[in-house]
Amino acid sequence: MLGLAAEYKAALVERPGERLTTLHGRAVVNLFFENSTRTRTSFEFAAKRLGADVVNFDVATSSIAKGETLVDTAETIEALGADFIVMRHPASGACQYLMRHVTASLINAGDGAHEHPTQALLDALTVQEALGKIEGARISILGDALHSRVARSAIWALTKLGAKVTLAGPSTLVPIEFASMNVRVVHEFDEAVRDADVIYLLRVQTERQASNFLPSLSEYRALFGMDAERLAMTKPGALIMHPGPVNRGVEVTREVMDSPRSRILGQVTNGVAVRMAVLTLLDRTRQKSGVRR
Ligand code: NCD
Repeated sequence: MLGLAAEYKAALVERPGERLTTLHGRAVVNLFFENSTRTRTSFEFAAKRLGADVVNFDVATSSIAKGETLVDTAETIEALGADFIVMRHPASGACQYLMRHVTASLINAGDGAHEHPTQALLDALTVQEALGKIEGARISILGDALHSRVARSAIWALTKLGAKVTLAGPSTLVPIEFASMNVRVVHEFDEAVRDADVIYLLRVQTERQASNFLPSLSEYRALFGMDAERLAMTKPGALIMHPGPVNRGVEVTREVMDSPRSRILGQVTNGVAVRMAVLTLLDRTRQKSGVRR
């Protein structure tokens, strides 16, 4: 998976305008019930580069506004010809639920606070590219883990690939229960970043009611915000990652985002390569299992 993504990444860099025919004749529908800049656009770029037709379903102007259910909507999209449905939904488990109702391949582009698997894959690719390997890498994930699908998926992927993961943040946002996911849990900024090769900052998820878990955003910034002064205290060469969108000046300052240590925009670019690999491998599986249209 990461091998294919790395090949696609190299091709994206070397031959930016290239159009492949891997998914020629297939239709990919982006079905996003929550806002997205990076994920939706990178799925669109990925699918188009592979030669697929892409439709961005507009939830706000669709019959969902008239009360049509999720299942009816997905069945309709499938009847219109979708081979792949890329879905983001505010409810944890929405993809698993829908899987039982459609034969199109369903890709989870983020479900509630549960999972965001393609984000974890692009994060893994970014670490591998930067450090040469993931095994043994010390990765500290800082911030609002409680409401973060990014953190849950990143923990699964990175620990599975052999990274040593530390989770850090205020105890309201990083409860000790996370320790059962094979990570070290700490509540002090200095302790979290001291030995880290990668410092992964999470967005404070204000829309998922994180404000009830924090006295204020300025308090968060004071305790866990990454600025130039704190960056200077980290291990030389330690990398900064963030899934975006950034609450600028809260989790991270502009100066740190622009520093050569930041891989934040690199993560976005890797999103296209990883999503190309996911679509390609899923299409191979579909063909092997005899799904045809
Ligand atoms: C994340 C998301 O929506 O889960 N963004 C993304 O996909 N890059 C992270 C976030 O919103 O904080």
